[in-house]
Amino acid sequence: MRDFLAIMLKKEGHEVVAAENGADALKAVQTEIFDLVITDVKMPGLNGIDVLKTIKELSPDTVVIMITAFATAESAVEAMKLGAYDYIIKPFKVDELKIIIHNSLEKRHLRKENILLKREIRSKAGFENFIGKSEPMQKIFSLIRQVADTPSTVLIMGESGTGKELAAKAVHYSSARKDGPFVTVNCGALPETLLESELFGHMKGAFTGSVSNKQGLFEAANGGTVFLDEISATTPALQIKLLRVLQERTFMRVGGTTEIKVDVRVIAASNKDLLQETAKGAFREDLYYRLNVLPIHLPPLRDRKDDIPLLADHFLTKASAGRALKKLAPETLKLLMRYRWPGNVRELENTIERLAILESGDTIRAEHVMDSLRTVLPSAELIPTELPDEGIDLETLLGNAEKIFLRKALEKTGGIQTEAAKLLGLSHRSFRHRLQKYKDS
Ligand SMILES: Nc1ncnc2c1ncn2[C@@H]1O[C@H](COP(=O)(O)OP(=O)(O)OP(=O)(O)O)[C@@H](O)[C@H]1O
Ligand SMILES: [Mg+2]
Repeated sequence: MRDFLAIMLKKEGHEVVAAENGADALKAVQTEIFDLVITDVKMPGLNGIDVLKTIKELSPDTVVIMITAFATAESAVEAMKLGAYDYIIKPFKVDELKIIIHNSLEKRHLRKENILLKREIRSKAGFENFIGKSEPMQKIFSLIRQVADTPSTVLIMGESGTGKELAAKAVHYSSARKDGPFVTVNCGALPETLLESELFGHMKGAFTGSVSNKQGLFEAANGGTVFLDEISATTPALQIKLLRVLQERTFMRVGGTTEIKVDVRVIAASNKDLLQETAKGAFREDLYYRLNVLPIHLPPLRDRKDDIPLLADHFLTKASAGRALKKLAPETLKLLMRYRWPGNVRELENTIERLAILESGDTIRAEHVMDSLRTVLPSAELIPTELPDEGIDLETLLGNAEKIFLRKALEKTGGIQTEAAKLLGLSHRSFRHRLQKYKDS
């Protein structure tokens, strides 16, 4: 039987090692990694069940298929419990065995792929896509590594678009909880009652429409991390409940009467200064101190302009995924460096994405930046007041300034040209002439 199967499997394209008994098989498994082992149950010396047990210890990923006589089908069931993939009863058809082998190997392959993908997603969610070489960001990265493995609550503050969510994920995925769930709750997106039942769950009949018991996100996040985004949007009543979770690690479902205990790490984020909010009476002071155990302040992008080239490159690569990679003209980068980025990294990301689409050539020119940014910015910022060492292109600069003010004047006067001209100290004729010049740009 052994020789016959070896020949058959070789014909199928497998590499085969035949072992005459259990002890020989285990010796082979100790020195080599096998995808699959086919073993008889009843053998002289070591039986198939013992072989299975040892293989699962030595090499848990190896698929084991048992061959058994009808009389020992019971031990086949035991084998399945011990981790065998399947069993086949003698006498069997070769095709049957071939199918089992094929399916088991495919399943093993998929599982491996899945593990790899998960790992990849995890590492992506960690630091890989969290970019910054500026000193403040380097400090934040090392701070995150330090706080990650503590159970303490982390409070992340920073303007909108500075990367608070990325920072929260980096904390979770560099902590010992990384294989547990990471659950995000946007506290600003739901009205109080819904948010409460979302966070803590509810019992059947707790309120109209609660037709069944429902688990809340705190329960779902057990063993992992809850990320409370926009925490300043919570109401005082909910703040008390959150305080309780932070202090006792217990809560009750809405309409429930039993305490539920959870093991979760809480990370909160706010783009408002929470201390100021407490001073205004909009945020409970005791909750603030509970949250503020490990504060992380993400600086606005304008305070770490060294990061702009790196981030721009990163977003450009992302934006041109699958297509030819465009590059930034040196003047373009200069403009990007000069801008104040009120929307921080998110605004930079969106701008780069837009530029990559607008530019038909392979180099992103400065004009496009002007067009793209001026929709959002007080454009005077793009006009330097100092003459940089590397000089400037005065024509382009003045042309851009002219365009900007023509547009602003028209906006202010609701499109009435004579009045727009007056605002700029121009004759109507001269205004029209200049407008004509930029008509197509
Ligand atoms: N340091 C960074 N490296 C790479 N991408 C970043 C970085 N910071 C932010 N981003 C990107 O910018 C966008 C905004 O980041 P994120 O959502 O984390 O900001 P936020 O602070 O949570 O903003 P908001 O307060 O508006 O919710 C995301 O697409 C994120 O991937
Ligand atoms: Mg956010």
